[in-house]
Amino acid sequence: MNIKNKHFYNTADFTQKEINNLIDLALAMKKGKIKKSLSGKSLAMLFFNPSLRTRLSFIIAMQKLGGLGVDFPIKDGYTFEYNLGEIMDKGTIEHVKDAAKVISSYCNAIAIRSSELITSSAESVKVQGWSELKKDKTMKSFMEYATVPIINMESNVYHPCQGLGDAVTIKEKLGKPKKKKYVMTWVYHPKSLPMATPNSQILSACDLGMDVEITHPKGWELDPDILKTMKQRVMETGGSLNITHSQKEACQNADVVCAKSWGALKNYGNWEHEKKIKENLKEWIVNKELMDLTNNAIFMHCLPVRRNVEVTDEVIDSKNSVVITEAENRMWAQMAILSSLI
Ligand code: CP
Repeated sequence: MNIKNKHFYNTADFTQKEINNLIDLALAMKKGKIKKSLSGKSLAMLFFNPSLRTRLSFIIAMQKLGGLGVDFPIKDGYTFEYNLGEIMDKGTIEHVKDAAKVISSYCNAIAIRSSELITSSAESVKVQGWSELKKDKTMKSFMEYATVPIINMESNVYHPCQGLGDAVTIKEKLGKPKKKKYVMTWVYHPKSLPMATPNSQILSACDLGMDVEITHPKGWELDPDILKTMKQRVMETGGSLNITHSQKEACQNADVVCAKSWGALKNYGNWEHEKKIKENLKEWIVNKELMDLTNNAIFMHCLPVRRNVEVTDEVIDSKNSVVITEAENRMWAQMAILSSLI
């Protein structure tokens, strides 16, 4: 596998063989096969949005590999201009064209979190429509101008490190995931969250050759272009993909139940409307009754989670819950990514 110097924007930019190699490398590292292969190398991290797991696991991943992770405090008010030809006489400090090249001259990779919907405020933030957000302007601009690999730590569209980390967890827990049943269930959440995480989680289940069931209320459909890629990838592995609006039907005989909430694409920027409709969807929760329908499934959630809103305490604290291992495996997955790209 040679993926050196490639951007890690979406797992589907890589062959399934490359993805499997990364999963195996992460699992080998977890078992102790770690070399200080990044000694003298550094990673710059730009978080435009809050994070706990991604921030800490990347810093520690770099340290375990002998390198340095630098978390640049971008949220202190550093602003970039993205439009070409702009007369920069207003608020932005620096054009991304210059900043991306400068940061590249200091370090060996740049990791970026830029997702308009991730916020620490209690309410959903006002955003542009999906067609605008789907362009992932911040991430794509850095990818265009940087001269070192860009690692996507979650954009509006994909969260490939979560996807790969989940694949590591599924392989670790299930052994041979091929043709096992994977359920991605939408769950209620008071805020309207990005769909980057479920997109990447489902893509990973497809790459593992699983029988994938997606269940969500009517109106919460995933992006048709991304669904098309999921179908292509799952066909290549001999798995399958099905969509249902019945959570109970989806969970019958499941081996993996992964819960995630996301905002409906058609409601982007109109959250007041979505909030009213969602009031009737609070039964979309993972509880014991639902888990009892499964084939003793493991329970997954990317965290952070709203306990007793998305999943009951009984389920997330049960022996079938793998959420802590799932968070840990983010670090091993990222070590595999970092050591392969840099
Ligand atoms: N799952 C995840 O990406 O967590 P953070 O938002 O805490 O990084």
